[in-house]
Amino acid sequence: MPETKLILGQTLGFTANPFETPVAEAARYRRRGALLVANGRIMAEGEADTLVSTHPDVTRIDYGDALITAGFIDAHVHYPQTGIIASWGKRLIDWLNSYTFPEEMRFGDPAYAAEIAALYFDLSRAHGVTTMASYCTIHPASVDAFFTEAQKRGQRVVAGKTCMDRNAPEGLCDTAQTAYDDSKALIGKWHGQDRLSYAITPRFSPTSTPEQLTALGALWAEHPDCLMQTHLSEQTDEIAWVKSLFPDARDYLETYEAYGLLGEKGLYGHAIHLDPREKDRLREVGAGLIHCPTSNTFIGSGLFDMQTLMAEGHRVGLATDTGGGSSFSMLRTMAATYEVAHLRHNSLHAAQLLWLATAGSAKALHMEDKIGNLSPGLEADLVVLDLASTPDIAQRTARADTIWEALFPTIMMGDDRAIRDVWINGRNTPSSPL
Ligand code: GUN
Ligand code: ZN
Repeated sequence: MPETKLILGQTLGFTANPFETPVAEAARYRRRGALLVANGRIMAEGEADTLVSTHPDVTRIDYGDALITAGFIDAHVHYPQTGIIASWGKRLIDWLNSYTFPEEMRFGDPAYAAEIAALYFDLSRAHGVTTMASYCTIHPASVDAFFTEAQKRGQRVVAGKTCMDRNAPEGLCDTAQTAYDDSKALIGKWHGQDRLSYAITPRFSPTSTPEQLTALGALWAEHPDCLMQTHLSEQTDEIAWVKSLFPDARDYLETYEAYGLLGEKGLYGHAIHLDPREKDRLREVGAGLIHCPTSNTFIGSGLFDMQTLMAEGHRVGLATDTGGGSSFSMLRTMAATYEVAHLRHNSLHAAQLLWLATAGSAKALHMEDKIGNLSPGLEADLVVLDLASTPDIAQRTARADTIWEALFPTIMMGDDRAIRDVWINGRNTPSSPL
């Protein structure tokens, strides 16, 4: 029976969405707060003095001035691209052909898949990421490797076999039937085991025939509790290619919609260059739009319209898009979110950035009742941030009068040195046996 623990420090969670509610009401900040954790869950949250006096005999872990928040949730990543992150100089389609597909080919080897899965989980943990939604490769072994590693670490994750039956190298193509069969078998094997969830994963419409999209749409209808993840309207040349491949479709979104691949539990990565009809439909169904700002600048894709989409009531999550994204860090991803919004003349508040990386991404993944906040009943996935992790950040934080002023330099300049500790499923020791 795991021990009950009282975790002390500054604490910051959310009672509402700071895009909809003023920050002062939406955020719950305590200068000296505490979380009572037992059995992998947050049992209580409150003022440190109160919880210490009501639980005097519980083991205490005191982080002092460090800031405890929910663990970061990376809502779109390709773990097989860990080894090719920061590859120079190509736009999307060239980048896929030059770097991504050759690397993904290697995941037919289960030992290599296991090695990269372990490396990816170590790196993402070092950056405070406790949950991620990952693409795998077409190889079922790549999915097994990812879920096996996540299960060992007690992590809540989403993943799926990436399906492609055209416009990819022969060794990376399945068929409509094998994509359906393999995905169905993987759902049976992994979906709902411990903290693992399966996402049906057509890579994007250029690499799937209408037959494959139809098969995966049928599979989703049979497993509506699964998420579905794909890419949408990332680059203008990609959109032109989609148009030539699907001449009858009104727009990119319709290449999913027509095959049963548009829904509330759909996660649409990038979603930068959207037509009004696409935006309307995505909002009507309550689909998740996943913002990947370091990728969108690194590959030169464009500027996600956060302000308009949030004002329209879209469900938006935040992601690194490793390895099209140039960082494993959700702090760096929040910084890029701020910068991209600024290029659209919109200044995002630190609370909005942190919300996107925690509660917002949890909502995009339909997991807000499980993760992404500091509320009692949620699973105890936490990150502890050192707000003075380097001399340059420390000298700035020393001048801060509010928590937001103290947090913002870490968002803008922080890296893995700012991650003082990580709690996953109520434990802060990596890879401890369940
Ligand atoms: N579109 C289709 N596949 C990919 C991918 O692996 N990365 C990115 N950024 N975009 C994609
Ligand atoms: Zn992607």
